[in-house]
Amino acid sequence: MVLNGKNILLVITGGIAAYKALDLIRRLRERGGVIRCVMTKGAKEFITPLSVQALCENPVMDDLFNLTQEDEIGHIRLSRAADLVIVAPASADFLAKMAHGLADDLASAVLLANNKPLLVAPAMNPHMWAHPATRRNVEQLKGDGVFFIGPETGEMAERNEAGTGRLSEPLTIVQAAEDLLTAPKRSCLPKLEGKKILITAGPTHEPIDPVRYIANRSSGKQGYALAEVCVEAGAAVTLISGPVNLAPPDGLVLKKVETASEMLQAVKDSLPADIAIMAAAVADWRVDKVAMDKIKKGEEGYVAPLFLSENPDILKTLCAMENRPSLVVGFAAETEKILEYAQIKLSKKGADMIVANNVAPKSFGGIGVMGGDRNIVHLVTADGHESWKEMTKNDVAKRLVTVLAEKI
Ligand code: CTP
Repeated sequence: MVLNGKNILLVITGGIAAYKALDLIRRLRERGGVIRCVMTKGAKEFITPLSVQALCENPVMDDLFNLTQEDEIGHIRLSRAADLVIVAPASADFLAKMAHGLADDLASAVLLANNKPLLVAPAMNPHMWAHPATRRNVEQLKGDGVFFIGPETGEMAERNEAGTGRLSEPLTIVQAAEDLLTAPKRSCLPKLEGKKILITAGPTHEPIDPVRYIANRSSGKQGYALAEVCVEAGAAVTLISGPVNLAPPDGLVLKKVETASEMLQAVKDSLPADIAIMAAAVADWRVDKVAMDKIKKGEEGYVAPLFLSENPDILKTLCAMENRPSLVVGFAAETEKILEYAQIKLSKKGADMIVANNVAPKSFGGIGVMGGDRNIVHLVTADGHESWKEMTKNDVAKRLVTVLAEKI
């Protein structure tokens, strides 16, 4: 039994679905989990602490300022003693509190002090789930490394209401909990637990005026695949992403940036790290003076000049820093002389390894790496190079992470 002897802290918040938390406690215990429960004031309006206590066979905690409860358990120790924290059901209000780091009751204080994997099972009216405020909060929480299960789509408790907002079934939540507790072990990837990995991905956008920018064709897919694989391998991942159309993987810290300067600042702010993988296609130049208003076409035949300055080289800057990660991997986006240019980049930038690829689109004779799902890469180090056959970007990520785990 996966959950055998695992300490699970279940936070129950207010909502009609709170009754399902009772079954969830039973299911978690059936699989050997040891359950402690924290209830919010709202949760107690729907189910009684007595029922919860009877099912988990541990005292229910609900009061941040109760001296006895705080003395015996303490909101810090509640998280430290747990292997996994689950919030089910998580109301819209509670998600908002979590996203903003509020801590005005025991449940929210426990989560702010939490340093364990956190699984959240939301339940609310479909309009509340679809509301832009909830969408923002969920995205923020995902970016903070919170795992989500559900909500499901179907009939709601309210008459004539249907949509997405139902709490996932207790067994589905149990399955997600088991997956979370076993993911790194089940994975055939090497272990990167305890390692912090910094990844840059996607293009940068350098503004020309309020509506135009300089960009490139990078989709961010290779960087995002790397981030996902590093999370699976158990690492603490910070993904610094330029503008892309990809859903961020769960379980990592996401920092969104637009420009190269912002990306450099986010990289500096995210140090220290054990490994850095600079997969972003950073724009080499930015416009000297960004126009505050849209540049007009002017007289017929007139061409507006653009004066450009070189952007900071993030990889090179990082490699020269005092607190440089012990393993720094760069990419080389080339369309010719791939190995030759990659070797120059390796020594010029001071990286430990360069992943070189031919980024020419199909119309220029390449395989369409930028935007596509496949890649052909060459791993270049000071000792030479290794060329890999064409494979999916996900497989490139798995193989590269395996190499990194052996080196770190
Ligand atoms: N890079 C960076 N900051 C820049 C430019 C590039 O950190 N301003 C990083 C990329 O993330 C990548 C590596 O440097 O890991 C090589 O990027 P690439 O675009 O291939 O090369 P450039 O250094 O931009 O050189 P060139 O455009 O002349 O090929």
